[in-house]
Amino acid sequence: MSVVRPHGLPNANDTAYGEARCPAPSVQEIITGDKFPAPAVLTQTNYQYLGSEEIGFERYYDQSIFEAEIDKIWGKTWQWVCREDHIPEPGDHYVYEVAHLSFIVVRQEDGSVKGFVNSCLHRATKFRKSEGCGSAAALRCPYHGWTWSNDGALKAVPNAWDFPHVDPDKFNLPEVRIGHWGGFVFLNPSSDGPDLLEYLAPLPDHFATWDMDKRYVDLHMEKELPCNWKTAQEAFLESYHVLETHPQLMTGVGDANVQYDLYGDHVSRFYAAGGVNSPHLAKPLSEQELIDQMLVGDRSVLDDSLTVGEGETARIVMARFLRKVMGDKFKVDLSRFSDSEMIDTIEYHVFPNMVLFPGVSLPMVYRFRPIGMDPNRTLFEILFLRPKPDVGIAPEPAEPVRVREEESYATVPGMDAAMGAVYDQDTDNLRAQQQGFRASRKGRQTLGNYQEVRIRHLNQIVDKYLKN
Ligand code: FES
Repeated sequence: MSVVRPHGLPNANDTAYGEARCPAPSVQEIITGDKFPAPAVLTQTNYQYLGSEEIGFERYYDQSIFEAEIDKIWGKTWQWVCREDHIPEPGDHYVYEVAHLSFIVVRQEDGSVKGFVNSCLHRATKFRKSEGCGSAAALRCPYHGWTWSNDGALKAVPNAWDFPHVDPDKFNLPEVRIGHWGGFVFLNPSSDGPDLLEYLAPLPDHFATWDMDKRYVDLHMEKELPCNWKTAQEAFLESYHVLETHPQLMTGVGDANVQYDLYGDHVSRFYAAGGVNSPHLAKPLSEQELIDQMLVGDRSVLDDSLTVGEGETARIVMARFLRKVMGDKFKVDLSRFSDSEMIDTIEYHVFPNMVLFPGVSLPMVYRFRPIGMDPNRTLFEILFLRPKPDVGIAPEPAEPVRVREEESYATVPGMDAAMGAVYDQDTDNLRAQQQGFRASRKGRQTLGNYQEVRIRHLNQIVDKYLKN
């Protein structure tokens, strides 16, 4: 590993809070050197200073705070359930669970989708016991056989003579709101609040040309993490940890000069330049060396197109290369994508639990959910959404693969070993951090004003919901 610059100590007189930035070129300065320019939405910055106050740790383990979050956040916000491709035909359904809540979304005869509470109106048994896909002509309870049509109307009651007090018109299954965006099906357990597109704003505008609906689930992994749902996603909201946790990424990612943006209550963004040296490196690699080391492990793809020509940068060469290789692999024309869209880490967070990458070579979606009523357990999912072919039928969504806590993501078939190692490093920190919350005598965290602003943003929105 190349030598890193020595660290220093903070100086309270340096600048006004929130104004300091890494002295290396910013993402905006880096992308001006690209051959195929980034779209307008990537040429904006939208940081806002949110304060420097410390944030208490009890929010990560306190049972009463957790239960308030279930009621006031998970019971009242828009959450994505599945991809449209998971329920393509009438009668197809998907069970979505978070904490003690359980819902079933069902494709209707007319192509629309309805969502219901996954609990029988006789004596509460769940229609389907666990999360995932299924298909049925009706929703029939496995206990005594009460049956509802897929549109939620009561259809049949065994021994109906014993239930003269049941008015079928008053026994429709309770519905939840359903919304659609980007090939995702969303639900909101509450009938109050904004509709989905208003809730997601400005995400739909930012993603207008990124065609998330034209992608398919190529890989789906899930792992139970021994930490709070906020702890888990905060590990993916900042790049400050790269130097210590992922030192192998420093020759190829601008970590300290990542751009952070905030958009209203529900959306924030992280934008990291790829194909560049970390500002921490004392001896940066040349542009050609950056290309050469990115391809470690796959020398078979080396050819003349990977030579950095006169006036070119590693970013231009890598984007050109990936446009060709990935276009051939996925049978799709990628010529419309800028260099930045091809190689950079562009990561949006949607409150409360969705992380979405519109880039072509880093096309992930993450989801974080509490498991049961334990504030110390979270289900973390990683999906890779690859472009559907321009011609022909896309593969069906990949089945989720459960990875044990101590197991490496790199063991999952189809998972890139180097990326798997990065996820292992990310999740290895979390048990120690969750335990540290309880061990701490200080009891409060101290966040960076810029690099960790998305963590502050997340927690400020949590507080806002809890006050309602
Ligand atoms: Fe569902 Fe009895 S609990 S039919």
